[in-house]
Amino acid sequence: MISLKSLANYLITGGAGFIGSHLVHALVERGDQVRVLDNFETGLRKNLDAVRDRIDLREADLADADAVRSACEGIDYVLHEGALPSVPRSVKEPRPSHATNINGTFNVLEGARLEGVKRVVCAASSSAYGNQPGFPRVETMAPQPLSPYAVQKLTGELYMQAYWRVYGLETVCLRYFNIFGARQVPDSPYSGVMARFTLMMMQGERPTIFGDGEQGRDFTHVENVVSANLLAVTAPATLAAGRVFNIACGHRHTLNETFNVLATLLKFPHPPIYGPEREGDVRDSLADITAANTALGYVPQVDFEEGLRRTVAWYREEFAG
Ligand code: UD1
Repeated sequence: MISLKSLANYLITGGAGFIGSHLVHALVERGDQVRVLDNFETGLRKNLDAVRDRIDLREADLADADAVRSACEGIDYVLHEGALPSVPRSVKEPRPSHATNINGTFNVLEGARLEGVKRVVCAASSSAYGNQPGFPRVETMAPQPLSPYAVQKLTGELYMQAYWRVYGLETVCLRYFNIFGARQVPDSPYSGVMARFTLMMMQGERPTIFGDGEQGRDFTHVENVVSANLLAVTAPATLAAGRVFNIACGHRHTLNETFNVLATLLKFPHPPIYGPEREGDVRDSLADITAANTALGYVPQVDFEEGLRRTVAWYREEFAG
């Protein structure tokens, strides 16, 4: 049971999106006041249907500095999930993702600073590590971003840290490692691999693996991201403010292995198609999650296989027939 004292006013940017909507649902369920800012470019209204009458929904773009500042009025905590995701999208069309991911993040920080927000927790990305040697990835490694998307997310982190140092605005960056789960869009050219493969295999289509399939990811179920954000809000500033934390499970799974687990769960009888490697792709990804555990108390709640089972169950229900 959560005491009323802990309830607060939250702004969730990108609250209609995949990760943002999970945060909205979790906060509404425990009784917090939730405001959502979303431009519905990649977010979906139906993600908020179940909570629509219990949230303050603002439709605006992160590029609109006035709307962003106004959304920060009376807010204690901002969970900044709004972004234009996808490495390949940023390679194909860098300008829109630059505008949203860098200028939008700047607008959130300025709005939060001017409106006296207590803390901003920001969605950062594991793509910051690039292809350097050394596994698992530790936050003390120098970033080596490969793609425009990675540069944009890293720039957001640097801005977050500067606002803590210069203005004393408490900021926490969470480097998400390949998040998957319910509500991840499966049918866009920029869909994450897990959502895309699940839907294709459900529909009897053979997915394409880019490269040899031996690239690895620290695939992380979205429930773990929810718990990481809630912990990042309440962790003492002395431990969390101005810092960056890996949010992952601490295990690496190859795409070939992932395909096989999905094929078993979905009873998919065909092999995948293999295609050329994707431009700007990171080869391997695996996180050290010690810092998040020590400073925030973060422990993954849902492992890879359980996450896949839940995800497949959701897509089956959602896309049945
Ligand atoms: C990257 C970041 C992740 C971030 C995400 C945002 C890394 C390691 N991860 O994910 O933190 O949240 O961007 O968009 O940088 N693939 C196929 N076939 C497909 C689709 C993808 O083989 O149809 C492959 C890709 O080439 C890649 C892997 O699957 O090797 C994962 O791709 P994707 O799901 O797009 O995520 P990342 O680019 O790894």
